[in-house]
Amino acid sequence: MTATILSGKVFATQFKEEAKKEILNIKQEYGVTPGLAVIIVGENPASKVYVRNKHKACEEIGIYSEVIEMPETTTKEELIRKIDELNFRKEIHGILVQLPLPKAIAQHEEEILNEINPFKDVDGFHPINVGKLVTGQEALIPCTPHGCLKMLEASNINIDGAHAVVIGRSNIVGKPMAHLLLSKNATVTICHSHTKNLKEICKSADIIVAAIGKPKFITADMIKPGATVIDVGINRIAPKKLVGDVDFENAVNVAGAITPVPGGVGLLTIAMLMQNTVTALKMQLA
Ligand code: GUN
Repeated sequence: MTATILSGKVFATQFKEEAKKEILNIKQEYGVTPGLAVIIVGENPASKVYVRNKHKACEEIGIYSEVIEMPETTTKEELIRKIDELNFRKEIHGILVQLPLPKAIAQHEEEILNEINPFKDVDGFHPINVGKLVTGQEALIPCTPHGCLKMLEASNINIDGAHAVVIGRSNIVGKPMAHLLLSKNATVTICHSHTKNLKEICKSADIIVAAIGKPKFITADMIKPGATVIDVGINRIAPKKLVGDVDFENAVNVAGAITPVPGGVGLLTIAMLMQNTVTALKMQLA
């Protein structure tokens, strides 16, 4: 039996439609258009593609979008000054600093991101939003894990009481994903590069979320028959070949539901950024 394929495209379209409807309602009721500012520093080609796609998504659904391109040589102080300016602009409700930052300022990433007004922090990376997520308060939630959770829910995959294994402990995916699943009453195990018995732990999972950044690391023999497998990895193994953290070709014969790469979770991130921008605006109207 082969697994149900969870198509990122289908869910991303659905989540963007939801955001679009809310934007129309807000425009009618309050006469306000949501505004998103994306700052990109330097010339990282992958980042440029991501930022262009974010801008396109905004235009598609009715969000005012500003892309701020800053040179590779930008200092920490210059970037913080730009963030401060955006913090005070009324027509900007969401601020995102595209990562990674250039090497020269990468060591200041935390300090830079902490400068964003938490109510405009559409990435959900600010410690205030992290703290709110962990304590169950209304927060802006990191886009990728938020999209994964919404996709699980929209697919009627049972989370309550399920054993969810999250592989990877990054601040962007692994940690927030674990807290989101916990908030929905899953029993959560977080695994990482130092975990012993990874295969046994994975094999007992009802839901696996792979966010390790190692191509085809999760093999079919690590998956319980019928389990749900969410693959957050995007690994380029040849100039035109992207694969996930899961060995999809074999895992698809064991899992009950699985996300492909490409065409899976990656598409949800931008859709959830659109939703977070609307949420940020609503928080600022309240
Ligand atoms: N670079 C890759 N993914 C992300 C993300 O979710 N947010 C930001 N700001 N930068 C990224």
